[in-house]
Amino acid sequence: MNQRQLFLQHVAQTSPAPLALEIVKARGVILEDAAGKEYIDLIAGISVCNVGHCHPKVVKAIKAQAEQYLHLLVYGEFVESPQVQYAKMLADHLPESLNSIYFTNSGAEATEGAMKLAKRVTGRTNIIAFEQSYHGSTQGALSILGDEYWRNAYRPLLPGILHLPYNDNAVLEHITTDTACVILETIQAERGVHAPLNSWLTALRNRCTETGTLLVMDEIQTGFGRTGHLWGFEAFGIVPDIILLGKALGGGMPLGAFVARKELMDCFTANPVLGHITTFGGHPVSCAAGMAAMKVLLKEKLIQKVAEKEALFRQLLHHPAIKAIRSRGLLMAVEFDSFETNKKVIDRCIEKGLLTDWFLFGANSMRIAPPLTITKKEIRKACEIILSAIDEIIVE
Ligand SMILES: Cc1ncc(COP(=O)(O)O)c(C=O)c1O
Repeated sequence: MNQRQLFLQHVAQTSPAPLALEIVKARGVILEDAAGKEYIDLIAGISVCNVGHCHPKVVKAIKAQAEQYLHLLVYGEFVESPQVQYAKMLADHLPESLNSIYFTNSGAEATEGAMKLAKRVTGRTNIIAFEQSYHGSTQGALSILGDEYWRNAYRPLLPGILHLPYNDNAVLEHITTDTACVILETIQAERGVHAPLNSWLTALRNRCTETGTLLVMDEIQTGFGRTGHLWGFEAFGIVPDIILLGKALGGGMPLGAFVARKELMDCFTANPVLGHITTFGGHPVSCAAGMAAMKVLLKEKLIQKVAEKEALFRQLLHHPAIKAIRSRGLLMAVEFDSFETNKKVIDRCIEKGLLTDWFLFGANSMRIAPPLTITKKEIRKACEIILSAIDEIIVE
């Protein structure tokens, strides 16, 4: 059997039609497959590789840490320098009230931890989440996911979850002294990039404060410069009680985190002790990689260049088949009339050496979320490919 057949046979599958590209090398914005064909990567591993694939400083940090130690002991027992230094760096770049970092292995685990923390802190069990939201695929995270199609096969899920429309003031009256937390994506990514109104988020923040409800914001896709700010919530002038991090947090290595005020996080130390535990969360190599990536992000001033790159995409992507473009920095959704058109354009783009995909709850929109290191030349080339792909499929 060749590699592709072995992949289909022995690697557990999640869709009947996986992309099945065999990538052998990735550098910067470019992926190379086994036949030597190159692809411009417009999705960055779904908002993971914000500083590009295999940035030399990230690779160097991984190698250096691998020479020192790998796994030592379950999370939270030893003083492990990569965790400590990275936690300090994150805290230094967050509002003062977000000063305690609980490292996990993934975004979904960060969601789980934050939901547990909100219950412990408030002594309440009800959670408000939003329609068309995505916070991960484990059962707690799935319980707050905002789409019945994806949830239904796994019932019974967690009780006490209320799903409400995003950006709608009706939510305010549902937040009461029985609500443990309100959890939302700062920008709804998998819905196809929908941002909240400033006034709505402010009202939500105020209502949470009034009722002693924790406001949890999922920054897993929007963190680390993706939206043109280090953290997505910065654009809205509010500070959440808990944030969720993942994806770019590990610089290409698996890492997640939830972040809260230390006094809240300390709930996990008693009644019961070990209130949330993980063997591998905050793996030293992942923390070393993540910290190196964050240093690159800041030192190379990548965030400051996001707005002009977003503007260039928007300026170049004009075509009658494009119905709308929604964007917040380099998190962009290009909308077509249907999933069928979108899929055809995406497939043609891949044939032509450009990798993109659609959104979980926004199947008629194409994802543009490249490494933030993408150059203007690469953006021009990418847009040329997208426009010619649209022309070709429309003629057919
Ligand atoms: C907004 C958001 N939250 C949570 C997650 C879950 O992260 P993970 O896949 O690392 O569990 C994702 C993953 O796509 C996400 O986009």
